[in-house]
Amino acid sequence: MSGAATQISGRISRIVAVHSCKGGVGKSTVAIGLARALQRTGRRVGVLDADIYGPSLPSLVDGLPSTEPELSPNGRQVLPFVSADGLICQSFAFVARLWRRRLGDGSVVLRGDLVAELMAAMANHTRWGSLDDLVVDLPPGTGEVPLTLATAFPLDAAVVVSTPHALALADTIKGVEMLAKLGVPVPAVVQNMALFRCTGCGDVHRPFGPSAADALRARLPDAQLVELPIMPHDSGLGGSLAAEFDVVARALDAVDARLKRGGHALPLPTKQWSAPHWPTLMATAKLELK
Ligand SMILES: Nc1ncnc2c1ncn2[C@@H]1O[C@H](COP(=O)(O)OP(=O)(O)O)[C@@H](O)[C@H]1O
Ligand SMILES: [Mg+2]
Repeated sequence: MSGAATQISGRISRIVAVHSCKGGVGKSTVAIGLARALQRTGRRVGVLDADIYGPSLPSLVDGLPSTEPELSPNGRQVLPFVSADGLICQSFAFVARLWRRRLGDGSVVLRGDLVAELMAAMANHTRWGSLDDLVVDLPPGTGEVPLTLATAFPLDAAVVVSTPHALALADTIKGVEMLAKLGVPVPAVVQNMALFRCTGCGDVHRPFGPSAADALRARLPDAQLVELPIMPHDSGLGGSLAAEFDVVARALDAVDARLKRGGHALPLPTKQWSAPHWPTLMATAKLELK
């Protein structure tokens, strides 16, 4: 690790991952909803959008700039974007803007080994300041990339997101087991799009049936199961589901007793990877354009 790392200061009290075994099930929606719920309790919250396959932070948080992020005066740290209400945001989508200017237009294609270095840099060379919570939106699945990232961050807890389909049950269990093997407790499982309330008669309908929820409760008796309704597209998902996300945030308190006092000092002890600072990473990375 270079001398750059020693310039980083600050602490992160708690690092919470949001994970799902499939993409498109609402992982990022839950990550932002959880971040906002934690903010409502007065905590200073950062979000690290580590989903290199589908970074969606820019479209989920209103009002973030579409410009390149600024570098610190010595060029070694990237300044995060901060939303109007104080959510501290870093995403691969933001740092890719820096790369694009160097390489011209096109998509940035990442090789596996570069992903790990990139995430180490995003975690350790973003000027977070001190945070009460860092919510990490992990890539989906239990393959090499999500596993590497889940292993490398010193995660205090994880929230697993799934849908209520019977077929998603096995995946959800697989995700919880992967995290359990890494010693990461899962105090809450979110079943997204589990039900809807009929605007005509007011009845609650469960289009995918109650079976997956019951089976999950049986398999994961210690986790708080939170069901989210299917929301109309224009409802502003996060705001309308505040009560549900508050339950997820409270479930995290159950693991706080396990946390070491004082949390994590920056730079984080990222296992397995070196964490080159930005200029080195961008200059040496073998990127392809498509
Ligand atoms: N409960 C819900 N009701 C309706 N649409 C939802 C719900 N949760 C998520 N979505 C929508 O589904 C899409 C995928 O959600 P997203 O959070 O980006 O998933 P992921 O991060 O798992 O890929 C988004 O367009 C999001 O707005
Ligand atoms: Mg996402």
